[in-house]
Amino acid sequence: MFRIEKVDENNKQRVIDFLKLDVVKHVFAFYDIQFKPKHTTMHVAFENGQVKGYVLVYTALEFPSVVLEGEIDAAKELVEHVSEKRFIMHTPPSLLPIVKEKFPDAKTYVEDWMLVERGKARFFRSNLVRRLSTKGDAEELAELLSTRGERPRGTVKKYMEMIKKMPVYGVFINNNHKLISYAGSFIQLPQVWMIGGVYTHPQQRNKGYATLATSAVTQEALRKAEKAALFVRSNNYPAIRVYEKIGYRKIGEKIWVDVRTGLKP
Ligand SMILES: CC(C)(COP(=O)(O)OP(=O)(O)OC[C@H]1O[C@@H](n2cnc3c(N)ncnc32)[C@H](O)[C@@H]1OP(=O)(O)O)[C@@H](O)C(=O)NCCC(=O)NCCS
Repeated sequence: MFRIEKVDENNKQRVIDFLKLDVVKHVFAFYDIQFKPKHTTMHVAFENGQVKGYVLVYTALEFPSVVLEGEIDAAKELVEHVSEKRFIMHTPPSLLPIVKEKFPDAKTYVEDWMLVERGKARFFRSNLVRRLSTKGDAEELAELLSTRGERPRGTVKKYMEMIKKMPVYGVFINNNHKLISYAGSFIQLPQVWMIGGVYTHPQQRNKGYATLATSAVTQEALRKAEKAALFVRSNNYPAIRVYEKIGYRKIGEKIWVDVRTGLKP
């Protein structure tokens, strides 16, 4: 029998101590529960005092982001604590049958989970690359991302906040004026940085630009953390090629579960 507890100030430290045992595996929970508590609701299944699984709902994004982890029997009970109607869930392949049963109309995609450790990366350097920081950079980022049809458009203000908070590197051409590729990090912990948002303008692909941008953010990541990690849809071959060139290797798989959002990884 599991005892399901909502995480609050009374049990939080016990949960953090458990997540700390494998920060890479639990990176979203470890980060959200400590640094985004206002936007995070977490339920944990305990058995004989041991953590057997958890479900976490993070609400600061356009759609709630849900993480379901743990043993199958615990996950069966935990999934009942997801009351959102539309969300993206991240879960290991072992829990997919439970998720499919609970959300039969969900669309699922396999994501490779890739990692590179300090000392194992190969960096690609160029003076076309720099960190984004100014309002002009935010405007360039908005312009670049307007070519990304399948994602909702963001405002310059949103991108300005993003580049102020997160390390984001870009590749500029036309005498340092035109941003044509970028990569950033959305979680920075001493144990691991999460890399994401890698994108190249459709007319500038296969020229090595994403490799330069991802290399730059990975270089900063591995100066400050032991590891850098990312998720990539497992049939996104150009992206996987980029990450492998830099030294990322597949360490596992996760399932991206789209419950009525239409978003793909
Ligand atoms: C993935 C993406 C960022 C790559 O950008 P890019 O600037 O073209 O990347 P690069 O030129 O640095 O490297 C691409 C590599 O993929 C290779 N490649 C291209 N198509 C490929 C395919 N179908 N299969 C295998 N490799 C392929 C290229 O040959 C190149 O490798 P090489 O340098 O060894 O020749 C770009 O395609 C993109 O923006 N896609 C949409 C957004 C996206 O999927 N982002 C990744 C999210 S995790």
